[in-house]
Amino acid sequence: MKPHRRIFVTTALPYANGSFHIGHIMEYIQADIWVRSMRMAGHEVHFIGADDAHGAPIMLKAEAEGITPEALVARIAAERPRYLRGFHIAFDNWHSTHSPENTELSQGVYRRLKAAGLIDSKPVEQFFDPAKGMFLADRYIKGTCPSCGAADQYGDACEQCSSVYAPTDLKNPYSTLTGATPVLRTSDHFFFRLSDPRCLAFLRQWIDSGRLQPQVANKAREWLDGEQGLGDWDISRDAPYFGIEIPDAPGKYFYVWLDAPVGYFASLLQYCRRTGLAFEDFTDPARAKAVGTEMVHFIGKDIIYFHTLFWPAMLEFSGYRVPDAINVHGFITVSGEKMSKSRGTGISPLRYLDVGMNPEWLRYYIAAKLNANVEDVDFNPDDFVARVNADLVGKYVNIASRAAPFLTRLFGGRLATPEAIAAAGLGLAVDPVALAAQVEADFESREFGRAIRTVMAHADRVNQYVDQHKPWEIARSIERDPALAADPVARQAALDRLHAVCSECVAAFHLITLLLKPVLPALASAAEGFLQVSELTWADAARRPQAIGEYSHLMTRVEAKHIDALFDLPAAAPAEPAAHTQKKKPAMNDKTPTAAAASATAPAIAAASEAATISIDDFTKVELRVARIVRAEAVEGADKLLRLTLDIGAEAPRNVFAGIKSAYDPARLEGRLTVMVANLAPRKMKFGLSEGMVLAASAEPGSGGPAGIFLLAPDSGATPGMRIK
Ligand code: 2FM
Ligand code: ZN
Repeated sequence: MKPHRRIFVTTALPYANGSFHIGHIMEYIQADIWVRSMRMAGHEVHFIGADDAHGAPIMLKAEAEGITPEALVARIAAERPRYLRGFHIAFDNWHSTHSPENTELSQGVYRRLKAAGLIDSKPVEQFFDPAKGMFLADRYIKGTCPSCGAADQYGDACEQCSSVYAPTDLKNPYSTLTGATPVLRTSDHFFFRLSDPRCLAFLRQWIDSGRLQPQVANKAREWLDGEQGLGDWDISRDAPYFGIEIPDAPGKYFYVWLDAPVGYFASLLQYCRRTGLAFEDFTDPARAKAVGTEMVHFIGKDIIYFHTLFWPAMLEFSGYRVPDAINVHGFITVSGEKMSKSRGTGISPLRYLDVGMNPEWLRYYIAAKLNANVEDVDFNPDDFVARVNADLVGKYVNIASRAAPFLTRLFGGRLATPEAIAAAGLGLAVDPVALAAQVEADFESREFGRAIRTVMAHADRVNQYVDQHKPWEIARSIERDPALAADPVARQAALDRLHAVCSECVAAFHLITLLLKPVLPALASAAEGFLQVSELTWADAARRPQAIGEYSHLMTRVEAKHIDALFDLPAAAPAEPAAHTQKKKPAMNDKTPTAAAASATAPAIAAASEAATISIDDFTKVELRVARIVRAEAVEGADKLLRLTLDIGAEAPRNVFAGIKSAYDPARLEGRLTVMVANLAPRKMKFGLSEGMVLAASAEPGSGGPAGIFLLAPDSGATPGMRIK
């Protein structure tokens, strides 16, 4: 009997300025499988999540939408349950870092660090946007590269020549928020003194404590002891900022990464208050040790730095317990292509659900590809279809469907006893307890792929057993062979044989259901009904069902149409390159907003008088923004397209394919401002992903108007990202 464990499990808190993307869902699926498996082992597991609500990007996005950051965060929070329920991700609590609990805890952490002499204040000189009245993070500053002279380079490094510099080195710097020339200003910042010998000594010991995957520990060691060493950490930001105020420092806020991980505790605290659990049992080092609780984080490889250095040091020196494990996973790629973290292109999780795809297909596919290392997982559509259909439908569910009907029809659904099966020499040579122990151990160590391979190898053996004993042939002779009908002894022997074979199959199905239950909770629940057993746990491996209910199909196959629908575009998306020349006239009842229809990819629009009227609400659905064309280039293999890299004031530039090559020399476009539809669903094209469209005017064919395509431009003074209303 393993000791009972009490574990508090978290996943990285997603920024509350956007919907979940497939990367989030992958992480939650990984953690959810682990949590379910640990619960099946009888452990007490509390699975905690929350939104990461603070920071400048959220503040600016809300401002651009003309709403408060609170309203933006609330809107995003309201969508979360649909995704989580949809993929059977069962968090026990979901909270927000913008909460009274987080304010209380973050300020407490700060006060304790300060009391420990680990907070410094020093002046920092930084770019300030005089038009916006705000200090600018590096990502909001662009200018001309000091090395190669390329225009519109970010404040930290040049995309053209790869040289690295400080934003203050840029020539002709401008704020991407307003276009204003930033000025240098000094302001006092607070620093967490990570360079303090106490912190360094603690971190060295922590990194070597065996709580990190070896490659993660190596990375953390490099950061700690590398050439640059660990500098003090700037934990404050000046107003305006959406965050938590620093005590006794008016106008100063915690940098979002200070209060984000504290959000794990904030959500736990809310949960403990709701359920009556003792928060201190999970967070106070002495209590946690006394009652034996564990703290386990699941995160992606992009945030190792914060979780392996800053967060444990914050905890240690503010009197909290430190994590027991930080389980780092790689990224998810789609057909080998990296997806963007901020925009989450690739597969839309909501679309996956909306087109009727089974969430457990994805859970299974991801599980089959995950291991305990920091490796990327690729979603390959063909591989997905092949694996789900072959494994889940062809191997697993098939076992029940091949045996159940005979048991129902000829034996009233009752199973033969294991003794009877053994006496007939028809037992499958497998030790279910040993098999379950092996699979359980692989789930616990996050070797999900290995667990799945073991289960499927067993399913193969069971299917070979069915093929070998051919229950359908035994049944046919029992039901149709006159010789057998005339020989009651032989008939009974055949019946016993059929009963044994089918019972053994159903017992194997029961075992495989148990083995896959952490991955396929809904299917397992339906199978438990069919098998007439209560909720399966790892301890049930040696048990067998006594009788079955009516079999109804447990899982359907993935079809090509699902994949087509998953990657297909909504009707409003820009047309394929071939369609650029096919100028469609909007019908009278066509609700397409005229501004959006006048795109460079579908340049013709009917005269305004021809189009049906739309409401202002229809129009405001279209998010039009000022965009700066940072780069324009021809696309190999496309006659009419230019690839445009557009800056719309957001963190990441947008990539848009526009059918304007006939009218514009790409070099002439770089640096100029235009108008783009910023909320168009991204569309996968032959040449890459198109993330919106730019607007252009053109005359109706045959109207006698001038030939050509005329890109729209805002009046001077407009800056990238401005909303057009
Ligand atoms: O990288 C991110 O998406 C962050 N919002 C993760 C925060 S994890 C924790 F620290 F809150
Ligand atoms: Zn350069």
